[in-house]
This record gives sequence, structure tokens and C-alpha cells, in this order.
Amino acid sequence: MSPRDPAKLVLGIETSCDDTSVAVLEDARTLRAHLIAAQDVHRLYGGIVPELASRAHLELLPPMVERALAEAGAKPEQLTAIAVTHAPGLVGSLVVGVAFAKAYAAALGIPVVGVNHIEAHLHSASLEHGEGEYPAVALIVSGGHTELVEVKGLGEYRWLGATLDDAAGEAYDKVAKRLGLGFPGGPVIDRLAATGRADAFDFPRPMLDRPGCDFSFSGLKTAVSVALKSHGEPPYDPALVADLAASFQAAVVETLVGKCLRALKETGARTLNLGGGVAANRALRARLAEACEARGVALRIPSLRLCADNAGMIALVGAWRLRRGEVAPPELDAAASLEASGLPIT
Ligand code: KG4
Ligand code: ZN
Repeated sequence: MSPRDPAKLVLGIETSCDDTSVAVLEDARTLRAHLIAAQDVHRLYGGIVPELASRAHLELLPPMVERALAEAGAKPEQLTAIAVTHAPGLVGSLVVGVAFAKAYAAALGIPVVGVNHIEAHLHSASLEHGEGEYPAVALIVSGGHTELVEVKGLGEYRWLGATLDDAAGEAYDKVAKRLGLGFPGGPVIDRLAATGRADAFDFPRPMLDRPGCDFSFSGLKTAVSVALKSHGEPPYDPALVADLAASFQAAVVETLVGKCLRALKETGARTLNLGGGVAANRALRARLAEACEARGVALRIPSLRLCADNAGMIALVGAWRLRRGEVAPPELDAAASLEASGLPIT
């Protein structure tokens, strides 16, 4: 790349939900700094409180940018562009990042590129594994999303399936709440599931018997509640909780793996990218690894920090777009929904 490479040193900013993250990415490849601050305040409420999330972003962002630059050993004037998540997400949270990015970029006289959060998840594996082959299938599973997408290249996507109700992570969080396990529920259910019997309860494998790649997880949450009916309220017997966690997790994982295999078959893709906070799940990783190995499919799972919401993936997709000459117009704004985000979806 020439010394005028617009992606020479990109500041990435992610504030779409309840994690504030800042990254400094060099040459669209090397993370020179990467900070993620999970907002603990939401634990007190058993879920994300949008108003508190935007306030926390506002407080955290300026010192985090300063610290990321210091860790990267870079001065603000050395930045060549700013990549910021502009959609989808909590609009009050997105606005904080977008407004900050525009003001900071204006002061430095550098461009801003608006990045779609889901698109960034689709490519997050490329930070550690290189760009990889197309077409690829990507499964994004988080607290807000369950998306199965055929990735034909940057900006070329075919949506294969999505959840019709709760996201996979949301189901984990709701079941954990019902079991009296606190928030977020995924990590604790993942841990407890390893100590329980996966066949103790015969929970449904939602939508697995139907064609297509859509998901539905709200029925599973109800199935767990029904199983608890004769047991009153938490706290429950630890052995019962472990069995419920293991049986619930087995149903979720079998469904996710089954739909991934269907998507790979339909598209003929030989690469599967995983992203989103639920990608941290040990059972999901293990089952997908077995299934992909048996079929000669390259499974690309980012490290834990890059699975969850992070600015590294935002900087990466921003850098790719900058190299195509794509920068945001001055009126770049936050958009809450995927549909309104301008991402080319077919
Ligand atoms: O991507 P993420 O950090 O934030 C968004 O939702 O955008 O994902 C958080 C979600 C939460 O629902 C959390 O319970 C879930 O990911 N999660 C897990 C695990 N770790 C986090 N779910 C299952 N197993 C895990 N180990
Ligand atoms: Zn996310």
C-alpha cells in the first residue's frame, strides 16, 4: 500500500449495545491497541438498561480513546480515518459513538466510515485467520441476533435465516434468569451444563424439522418454565439446575449446528465463520468443530474478545471499505434496525 493508504491507521469505535470498545488497527491487519469495557451496571437490573448504556458510553469513550492511542504508541494526528458502528443497535448508544467519531474526525481533518455491526461480526474471524475463501457461511449468535448468512465478499450477502423471536443469547439470558442464575446467563449455563445430564429433559429442537434456516428460541424458554412448574421459585436444587442447563444447552446447540450444516449444504460453502457472544459457548464450539472436520469445512472461530462486541472488527471492515474509497457522508446517522442500516441484503 502507498503511504497515503487511507487504512494505514484506523481508530475503531463500537458503542452499539452495552460494551464500549476502542481499537487502533494498522494496515487493515494489526491491532495495535484493543480495549473493551463491559458495563457492569446492567447486572444490577438483570438486563441491559438503554439509558444507562448510553450514559456509560459517554463517560467511557473519551478516556478509552486516549488510552488506546497511548497503548498503540500513536498520536491522534497519525490516524488516517475513524471507523464507527452506526447500525444496528440501541439508538441512544449508537448516537454516542457516531457523534464522537464525527467530532473527533472533523477536528483531525480525517474521514469517517460508518460500519454495520452485523457485517463486522460476519468478518471478525478474518482479523486472526486472514480474509479466507468465499463463499463462506457465517453464523452470528449474540444477545440481540441469530443470523445465518452466505458471505460472497465484502458487501455481498444473502440472508439464509434469522430468529423469528428470541435471539440465542437472549434465550440463554432468560432461562438463566428463570433459574435464578443472574445476568448474563450464557457463561453460567455453559459452565453448569458441563456438570448436568443433557438427556435429563427432552426439550424440543425448534424448527430443526422444518425446511430453511430460520430459528425460534422462545418455545424453549417456555419448556424450561414448564419443567420447573412443580418446583416453585429459585433457589432450586443444584442438581436440577445442572440438568436443566445441560438439556437446554443441548437443544440450542443441536439446533444451531443442524442449521449451519443445512446452510453449508445449500450454498456449497467450504468455510464457516462464527461470531457473536454465544460463539464463546464451549459445547457449540466443540460440536461445530466435529461436524466441520467430518465434512472438510474450515471452521473459523475468533478468540473470545473478538467473538463478543468489539471495535477491532469495526476497524477491520472500516479499513476494507476505506480502501474502496467508501467514506461516510457528513450526515451519517445512527440506525437502530438492520433493515434501516443500508446493508445490501438479498
Ligand atoms: O455479542 P455479545 O457480547 O453482545 C450482544 O448481545 O450483542 O453477546 C452477549 C450474549 C449474551 O446473551 C450472553 O449470555 C451470551 O452472549 N454468551 C453466551 C456465552 N457467553 C456469552 N452464551 C452461551 N454460552 C456462553 N459461553
Ligand atoms: Zn454484536
